[in-house]
Amino acid sequence: MKLWAGRIQTDTDSRVNDFNASLAFDARLYREDIEGSMAHAAMLGARGIISQVDTDAILAGLEGILRDLEDGKDILDPDAEDIHMAVEALLTQRVGDPGRRLHTARSRNDQVALDMRLYVKKEIQTLHGLALAFQKTLTDKAEVHLDTVMPGYTHLQRAQPITLAHHLMAYAEMLRRDVTRLEDCHRRMDLCPLGAGALAGTTYPVDRADTAARLGFVGVVPNSLDAVSDRDFCLELLADLSILMVHLSRLAEEIILWCSWEFGFADLDDAYATGSSIMPQKKNPDVAELARGKTGRVFGDLTALLTVMKGLPLAYNKDMQEDKEAVFDALDTVKTALTVFTPMVETLTFKSDRMRRAAAEGFLNATDCADYLVKKGLPFREAYGVVGRLVHTCIAQGNTLETLSLEEFQSACPLFAPDVYPALALDACVRARKADGGPAPEAVRAHIEQIRVFAAARALWQASL
Ligand code: ARG
Repeated sequence: MKLWAGRIQTDTDSRVNDFNASLAFDARLYREDIEGSMAHAAMLGARGIISQVDTDAILAGLEGILRDLEDGKDILDPDAEDIHMAVEALLTQRVGDPGRRLHTARSRNDQVALDMRLYVKKEIQTLHGLALAFQKTLTDKAEVHLDTVMPGYTHLQRAQPITLAHHLMAYAEMLRRDVTRLEDCHRRMDLCPLGAGALAGTTYPVDRADTAARLGFVGVVPNSLDAVSDRDFCLELLADLSILMVHLSRLAEEIILWCSWEFGFADLDDAYATGSSIMPQKKNPDVAELARGKTGRVFGDLTALLTVMKGLPLAYNKDMQEDKEAVFDALDTVKTALTVFTPMVETLTFKSDRMRRAAAEGFLNATDCADYLVKKGLPFREAYGVVGRLVHTCIAQGNTLETLSLEEFQSACPLFAPDVYPALALDACVRARKADGGPAPEAVRAHIEQIRVFAAARALWQASL
């Protein structure tokens, strides 16, 4: 017998039940659903909307259900439509009449909106912690590679010398944005939808602020229609996770490149690499590749939910049940990706000699050579031309700028003097880039300190929730 039997007279077609049901995926909301019901019941009792005796019976019943579910007991009716129906039916089965009073002044529409908010809020905390942990790994790794010179690229062509620390800290900075984006999402969604009812609020003298406070929200959603039809917080989360995955996939791509024989800049720990079933020599970066690939899933989840929400009339529509699998899939994907990425990067070893050699070839000091002439008084555009011609000669001769004789330098431009040689040395080129944000070890060290201060403050945010 369906809960709604009355208006609907015949049994639902079993194919409709299968199509309609969400228990298979929303059962994971059981904790939030029960906690939400407990807060709602407590408020109903406190306001005298239901009796204290009924309230106590409901609370005890819900506590028992929660305990059993936490213990892994298989107590949910698999034929229930969704987690809300399943818990309510179970409660009534266990405590009788009081269970039938729980849904007073409530609808599944505000209930599901609540469950999702509670769930997402909790998941944001977990993600926030994982993102900070990954950022710490990047920062710690950077600290030991402040002097590890490597080529910096544009267009994947060697461009100017940087350090590995500088490169890794670029990712730490991306993670800073990810962490604060998650906080923003949390802050904006921290309002309780309960009391919105199906869409038009309720005639009962509820105390929305009381329910909200019991559940740890800072306030209530101010409009009942919006409360039940809003899934911005899911979209925002998915957008934040998509951007985070962009970052992971870019690093994944670089790790894949760095571990190739062609680059040979890095070596994965064996525990984070895979072999081939046929080629005995292979050591494959599957983890990085999968993270790169799973980025597509997360974008798909965002695109799916954006498409579901687009053009929906107010207020609740069943389409919105589709929010769950998208959100759950993205959360699961990003959590596992971060969980495996952190130790993979932590155990990644870098071949400093190969990086240095790569930085020594490819005329990465050409800009520095032009800058040298600028410091001697030549306009930059002219200096650029002089060095361009020198590079052209070097390529033809198969040598590098610093191997040119002083006569060769001076015939290109009389401003060249013996001090050009130390100016072109790789380490000098890196050390000279000491403006804020640059690759000079002192500049990167300052950035590392800044990120550590940030991380400590953000860990406090989490503890304050
Ligand atoms: N399972 C539904 C969902 O996830 C719960 C809300 C159902 N509300 C309704 N009026 N049918 O969206």
